[in-house]
Amino acid sequence: MLYPLSYGSGVSKHASSGCIVAQGWAMVGTTSGSTPAGGQTDRVQSNPSPTDRSRPVPPQLLPRTAEVDGDGTLLIGGCNVLDLAEEFGTPLFVYDEAHLRERCREAMAAFDGRVAYASKAFLCRAMARLVHEEGMTIDVATGGEYHVARAAGVPAASLVMHGNNKSEAELNLAMRDGVGRIVVDSFDELDRIEALVAGGAPSPAVLIRTNPGIEVHTLDEVATGVPDSKFGFPLAAGDAAGALARAAASPAMELMGIHVHIGSQVFSAENFADALAMLGPIVGEWDLPEFVVGGGLGVPYVTGEEAPTITQWANGIHRACDEAGIRATVSAEPGRSIAAAAAITLYRVGTIKEIAGVRTYVAVDGGMSDNPRPVLYGSGYETFLPRAVAAERPRTVTLVGKHCESGDKLVVDGAVPADLAVGDVIATPVTGAYGHSMGSNYNKVLRPPVVFVADGQARLVVRRETMDDLLATDVG
Ligand SMILES: Cc1ncc(COP(=O)(O)O)c(C=O)c1O
Repeated sequence: MLYPLSYGSGVSKHASSGCIVAQGWAMVGTTSGSTPAGGQTDRVQSNPSPTDRSRPVPPQLLPRTAEVDGDGTLLIGGCNVLDLAEEFGTPLFVYDEAHLRERCREAMAAFDGRVAYASKAFLCRAMARLVHEEGMTIDVATGGEYHVARAAGVPAASLVMHGNNKSEAELNLAMRDGVGRIVVDSFDELDRIEALVAGGAPSPAVLIRTNPGIEVHTLDEVATGVPDSKFGFPLAAGDAAGALARAAASPAMELMGIHVHIGSQVFSAENFADALAMLGPIVGEWDLPEFVVGGGLGVPYVTGEEAPTITQWANGIHRACDEAGIRATVSAEPGRSIAAAAAITLYRVGTIKEIAGVRTYVAVDGGMSDNPRPVLYGSGYETFLPRAVAAERPRTVTLVGKHCESGDKLVVDGAVPADLAVGDVIATPVTGAYGHSMGSNYNKVLRPPVVFVADGQARLVVRRETMDDLLATDVG
């Protein structure tokens, strides 16, 4: 007997009657779709009480197809995650393919089929193929992302080339392949494109990335539409107008439109509306066919957080564009909101250290090398035991990795079941974006594999690194 856990995104769906998790979980009540339709997008961080924190992990933080079997074990995509840990080892990223496709389809419907997946959130060939199959184009920010997308068989025409410091080699390759769009970020880049065209490269279709210079409520590290930013041409100083004029006058490129991306993990509808209001006049003045609003929609990571759905976000964007008089065709570049909640990471507990009067450290076999967000930004995560996914979590522990750094924390003051023990498989949810993609080999820890699960089948799409991989680029 299987029991549903996930209520999906944007639809509050009740677990079937008799579901062993229904009673305890109903209290959590923080679906990502619980904001009013098309409504407020301000982040709600409710600082859950200790009682709420000790409840089972909220199903809304788990991938779409999460279920629990008769003995309380978590299944994703019809696969028992403990079996996945046995088969593929730990740490392991488990992606729910149905969840990924559902979010892609939601975004495509909400933006009339004009969506580029921001591949910096998570990229491998299987992911590139998946979003391409769903009809999306792909935002690549470096030659490396471009290479992986091309190696997956995605045509250059379906790629959008980003980056604040594109090299001549990156531009040359993309232009000669016939890249779909180049999003120009600096006057130096305009020079480089002109020089390449003079040297025989075909002229690209370009967008000019603008920076509205507004206040953006998110972490400083991921706010890009603020006055002090390395990204885009500022509006205020007239740089954006200057770049548009130069691109329009240049025979070396075809100017298609204006681009803006204000930041990542943004929950405020007001911030997006402010940016669009700032850009309304220049977009109207230039009357170009395309306008890109970037990505940036925030997602919930922990108990008590809420976020708008992609549909609600898109509704707000369309409304704000109307209000700003923007008549160009609007497209978007979501990354995190497509991939984050689609995956969980599985670890194995190796050491439990109780420091009397201080805290209990639970050390696992991964750490900051597979999820650097906590150490970079102080980001919060939940943690739970897949063998008892619906269990109460009365015990407070700090989940740490195996790296030689005190900051190597995955979850500070995380809630876990009382019987957590060495040898348990432990999981962190919402690790599908900016985890694997920002990972590293620090301490020569091997990068974990990635499996995609669907319809009871697990497909290895990125294998675990080997010790020999560590020496592959070491020429002695
Ligand atoms: C230009 C651009 N577009 C889209 C995104 C995707 O943002 P997110 O993953 O927050 O949706 C980013 C990420 O920072 C970006 O730099």
